[in-house]
Amino acid sequence: MSSLITMDDLSNDEIQEVLETAERLLPVARGETYLPLLQGRILGNLFFEPSTRTRMSFETAMKRLGGDVVNLGAVASSSVVKGETLYDTIRMVDGYTDVIAIRHPRQGAAQYAADAADVPIANGGDGAGHHPTQTMLDLFTISQAHGRLNGLRVVLAGDLRYGRTVHSLAHALVRFDCELVFASPSSLRMPEEITSDLQKHGANIIESEDLLNHIDDADVLYMTRIQRERFPDEEEYKKVSGSFKLTARDLANAKQELIVMHPLPRVDEISPDVDATRHARYFEQAFNGVVTRMALLCKMLDVEVPANIGGAA
Ligand code: NCD
Repeated sequence: MSSLITMDDLSNDEIQEVLETAERLLPVARGETYLPLLQGRILGNLFFEPSTRTRMSFETAMKRLGGDVVNLGAVASSSVVKGETLYDTIRMVDGYTDVIAIRHPRQGAAQYAADAADVPIANGGDGAGHHPTQTMLDLFTISQAHGRLNGLRVVLAGDLRYGRTVHSLAHALVRFDCELVFASPSSLRMPEEITSDLQKHGANIIESEDLLNHIDDADVLYMTRIQRERFPDEEEYKKVSGSFKLTARDLANAKQELIVMHPLPRVDEISPDVDATRHARYFEQAFNGVVTRMALLCKMLDVEVPANIGGAA
């Protein structure tokens, strides 16, 4: 793999291999062991949209492995405001760095960057398109909790129309024969072209405007934020804001092993009383961004991760 733009860039075997590497890297991500595998390498962080977790976990991953990071910083203080094109920015950062993580409001921007650059590109979210590095940390979280990816029943809930995390995740889960429930308000349904493409690949999908009825037989409940910034019309956002709100009471009859996930940030989709339940996994999920991005950076930079890393020093 050179660049990671959509989940199609990874085979199922490669996904499993990255998850195994990520697991081995846990002591490094926790700071218990220092393993400078990426010493002398530089990551370019180009975030043209707000980001906390993706940007910071890429940076943490690089630094825990002895590498370094250069940041575009705030778009307002870069040459983007002088009218520099994305193409020129990429061509230039390509010369400064060994690998680039990019987030951009425009769908397709990461592929465009990959076409312009020689170094590998990691798509950290392109508009309402894809978010494959998030999917890798989501799969890691699911496989750590359930011991497998295959054959699980997964409910994806909230803004399935504009949410790029669920677009990438749905594609991956179908490849592992998961049953999917798409729960959303009707105006925020999973785009028809994605659903029909998944069904063409044999996916078992239930679409529903109701969330609560689907919780009790789920293995994974993946909540998402309504993507306010992608709505062309604020009035349309107001109509659906606050549609799905999960509380601890809604989980009363859930399976013991159900995990509740969220890519974060949450607004009001998950009440804080869920945090203390056995089901909440979203903070661990955010931490898992570090190990999975470590494993992905090593793969993109063609750096072998030793089989035995060891635990706390
Ligand atoms: C997500 C994103 O940017 O798509 N955030 C993230 O990377 N963890 C989800 C969101 O913003 O709602």
